[in-house]
Amino acid sequence: MSRIYNFSAGPSALPEEVLAQARDEMLEYGASGMSVMEMSHRGKDFMHIAARMKTDFIELMQAPSHYQVLFLQAGATAQFAMIPHNLLAGRTVASYVNTGSWSSSAIKEAAKYCRVHLAASAEADKFTRIPEPAGWDISADSAYLHYTSNETINGVEFDFIPESGGLPLVCDMSSNILSRPVDVSRFGLIYAGAQKNMGPAGVTVVIVREDLLGHARPDTPAVFDYALQAKSESMLNTPPTYNWYLLGLVLQWLKRQGGVAAIEQVNIAKAQKLYQAIDSSSLYSNPVHKNCRSRMNVPFVLRDAALDAEFLSKAEANGLSGLQGHRSVGGMRASIYNAMPEAGVDALIAFMAEFERTH
Ligand SMILES: Cc1ncc(COP(=O)(O)O)c(C=O)c1O
Repeated sequence: MSRIYNFSAGPSALPEEVLAQARDEMLEYGASGMSVMEMSHRGKDFMHIAARMKTDFIELMQAPSHYQVLFLQAGATAQFAMIPHNLLAGRTVASYVNTGSWSSSAIKEAAKYCRVHLAASAEADKFTRIPEPAGWDISADSAYLHYTSNETINGVEFDFIPESGGLPLVCDMSSNILSRPVDVSRFGLIYAGAQKNMGPAGVTVVIVREDLLGHARPDTPAVFDYALQAKSESMLNTPPTYNWYLLGLVLQWLKRQGGVAAIEQVNIAKAQKLYQAIDSSSLYSNPVHKNCRSRMNVPFVLRDAALDAEFLSKAEANGLSGLQGHRSVGGMRASIYNAMPEAGVDALIAFMAEFERTH
């Protein structure tokens, strides 16, 4: 068996060390005599796994003590609805910044529950830049301001935390959480699906400031009510126990790498060399403005789209998988999350250079 480099946008590559540890512990976890999958979520062993996972997450994010951390289900997509359900608190407007496909999805869902005020949009620029914050029009009667810190499909990433004019700042961090340090205290709420930087699909993390809890609409389903989930340690219903365990292993791995500040340096190095390879070539190009290019998702197109199929099949044959761009934008996309080793990026760059040489 030989493992390939997986550039998939999510679910995506996991650290090999984590997979090996999970394999070793598959049949018997510690002295429990059973697999983590078979344990009661109320039992001593699993409670220990859950507590360590949560503590490690809080430590890595440096989340202050007046924030609750929840581990929920149904993906970031469910959060698009849960956020208005929980945070509108009687208001009828929320401000959103539209920087790409995922912001657009969040806006579409929120519009079912409130009036969405578009504070800024980069749609006219085909989502290749972040609208200048000085020009944002945030409506003061909004319950919150929502933005997407990394647009997984468009390859656009904020390298700053926007000012929210005093409103709770809400951020979809699905595709860049734990890839760079962030000051959690600037946010009302952060949410992120696990399947890019944190583990397998099936867990969504929510970090929410405590004063925002307890104002859910009366018709909010119990499992979607942050206050109820906080009170029951995210165990209002049976959690996806094995996914929590794997998330915990990824967090332990990240701590062994030196934590978020250390992995950020690796992420900068990986992204810089890949963008440099694209910019210096005459075959590949990336349309995103340089100051907001994503370190996590690097989309690029070939000069002639007729070469796409050959590029992808040859890449696959060279052990480089998952490079096809999202169906809505086409082209290529290399997702280079925390678990992608620098050697994987080097292998991609070498393949791209050779493909260019022969075309
Ligand atoms: C930035 C962002 N937000 C939301 C989602 C939706 O996540 P899920 O499929 O877990 O609901 C994704 C998925 O790729 C994403 O990249």
